[in-house]
Amino acid sequence: MSALTNKTFIISGGVSGIGAATARIAHGRGANLVLTDLNEGAGAAIVKELGERVLFLRHDVTKEPEWISVVAETKSRFGKLDGILNSAGVGRVASVEDCTLEEFRFVNAVNATGTFLGCKHGVLAMKETGGGSLVNISSVLGLRGMNGAPAYCASKGSVRLLSKSVAMHCAAMRYNIRCNSVHPGWIETPMVTPRIQQSADPAETRARMEKMHPIGRLGRPEEIGALCVFLLSDEASLLTGAEFVGDGGLTA
Ligand SMILES: NC(=O)c1ccc[n+]([C@@H]2O[C@H](COP(=O)([O-])OP(=O)(O)OC[C@H]3O[C@@H](n4cnc5c(N)ncnc54)[C@H](O)[C@@H]3O)[C@@H](O)[C@H]2O)c1
Repeated sequence: MSALTNKTFIISGGVSGIGAATARIAHGRGANLVLTDLNEGAGAAIVKELGERVLFLRHDVTKEPEWISVVAETKSRFGKLDGILNSAGVGRVASVEDCTLEEFRFVNAVNATGTFLGCKHGVLAMKETGGGSLVNISSVLGLRGMNGAPAYCASKGSVRLLSKSVAMHCAAMRYNIRCNSVHPGWIETPMVTPRIQQSADPAETRARMEKMHPIGRLGRPEEIGALCVFLLSDEASLLTGAEFVGDGGLTA
């Protein structure tokens, strides 16, 4: 892949898991990064790790005024915006009978509304400066249902079709802004690994989850990160409105 020098990307949820893995790869290729998250401690740590060309902003993706500030600060610090990875997300386990309305709204606010706001303010900024790329993290659970995850499945299904709608709008308007969704299987991140470790029988839980993936293992964050960096780059210039599955064959 070519260098990303002079490209500037915002990564929500950029201090942990898939967001941080994407940040490390994009930074290694020369990109300027604005990493946003609620977790300020992890934000300070990744800024220290990566050094130059990285800004951390505390940001709640469910709040529109905060998106407006994040985009404005990105433009002020780095000149322009070339792409957003919407990776901030939360997971909850509860059946449709047990999931409270508050929980359903919370998960959808972060995963679906947060991604909508990222797309909206990304389009508004990037249409003025020649285009860019929006990459939205959905899930294999945005492609198929799972018992015990109605809020999460609904939110990730929303991200999938939101992405296609945004892609079609930007194509029709000739903005040169692409928008795609990414659908990971189970990836070893702080969203997943502690749940395995805290389960009643961690070895059995891990073996069961690994077996769900035909390749016989869970994914690594950098494996999804490499895909996200490619989609953010100009090399993916024909790719828009598409869904990219990274699941070791789980949905095959
Ligand atoms: N790990 C997996 O198996 C897996 C599979 C499919 C999809 N995903 C999706 O990938 C994305 C990244 O998850 P991850 O696995 O890297 O988990 P993670 O927990 O390591 O990272 C998610 C980050 O989002 C941040 N966040 C949560 N709510 C926020 C908010 N309101 N505003 C800003 N930041 C907020 C968290 O602080 C955290 O740093 C999520 O959208 C998740 O749903 C993960």
